[in-house]
Amino acid sequence: MCRQVFWRVMSTINPSICSSNFLRIQSPAKINLHLEVLGLRTDGFHELAMVMQSIDLADTLEITTNKSGQIKLSVDNPELSSGNDNLIVKAARLLRNHVKRKDLGAIIHLRKKIPIGAGLAGGSSNGAATLLGLNSLWDLALTQDQLEHLAAELGSDMPFCLEGGTQLCFGRGEKLEPLNISFTPMALILVKDPSISVSTPWAYGRYKEIYSGNYLEGEFEFERRRQKLRGENWLRVLSAAQPPPLKNDLQQVVAPEISAVQNALKLLSELPGSLGVAMSGSGPSCFALFSSYSKANDALEKSKKKLSSFGLESWCCSFQSHGVIFEL
Ligand code: C5P
Repeated sequence: MCRQVFWRVMSTINPSICSSNFLRIQSPAKINLHLEVLGLRTDGFHELAMVMQSIDLADTLEITTNKSGQIKLSVDNPELSSGNDNLIVKAARLLRNHVKRKDLGAIIHLRKKIPIGAGLAGGSSNGAATLLGLNSLWDLALTQDQLEHLAAELGSDMPFCLEGGTQLCFGRGEKLEPLNISFTPMALILVKDPSISVSTPWAYGRYKEIYSGNYLEGEFEFERRRQKLRGENWLRVLSAAQPPPLKNDLQQVVAPEISAVQNALKLLSELPGSLGVAMSGSGPSCFALFSSYSKANDALEKSKKKLSSFGLESWCCSFQSHGVIFEL
């Protein structure tokens, strides 16, 4: 859904939702169809050129608001912190501080489906869902741009998760250019070894150690690379009319260190009907693309046992045209 339509829908449904102090929000994962490290920025982050895609593997947040001045989080997955380091709590506090309303409180429950530490922006999506939900329930009326600005303070992927769909993402990931592709038949098989997670700072640090000699320098060179990515015919790619030009620079440093990623990429590339395989974000989750959900599902039925014998959990998912969204 494009930005304008999304906000029209939100403003239409908000009044009915705001009459209550309870909301349920879907918080979807993303994959990277393209992740290119261009160079280093003066703030120490990497300058990126990416294409991010929302998928229908989603967590659910249940939010009840009150005037207790307290933010309380519970999570149905014991591996995940429900304390001040969770992006949900950070997002709620940041929003409350921004509007200078110490009285605002919330009780939030997270139902986790997206694997943790997987390169799927699960945490960032949860933070984005919190901003969207509390903006509505606390009746703050912040604009999309204001929410994106707050989201960028908490994580490079969080602004994308607010609107989602298919977007070009530049800067450190927060400069968004929606591709306005409202429907794509494409689907994927996603796999991850549940015993492994990858630290994003480690992956970027390792990339810098090995490849900083090749970094581009200066805005002129960065912009040339952005133009090249804008010039790809993403509409044809996402209607499965031409093979997707998948790329993930971080894969070059993560795969050699983690055998589960090597196994995943090899097994996925052998699946019948697979259009291309790649790692997502800083990994370790990997995916294979298919031209339709039924093709992906058939391939998964035939391969699930083998993937599992290599210790890989697997999901069949579809591309999705939106990010975090109220559940009606
Ligand atoms: O913003 P986010 O929390 O995703 O970043 C985590 C870490 O990943 C950063 O502290 C940084 O080490 C690295 N990173 C980077 N360049 C980016 C995004 C992340 O170097 N564009």
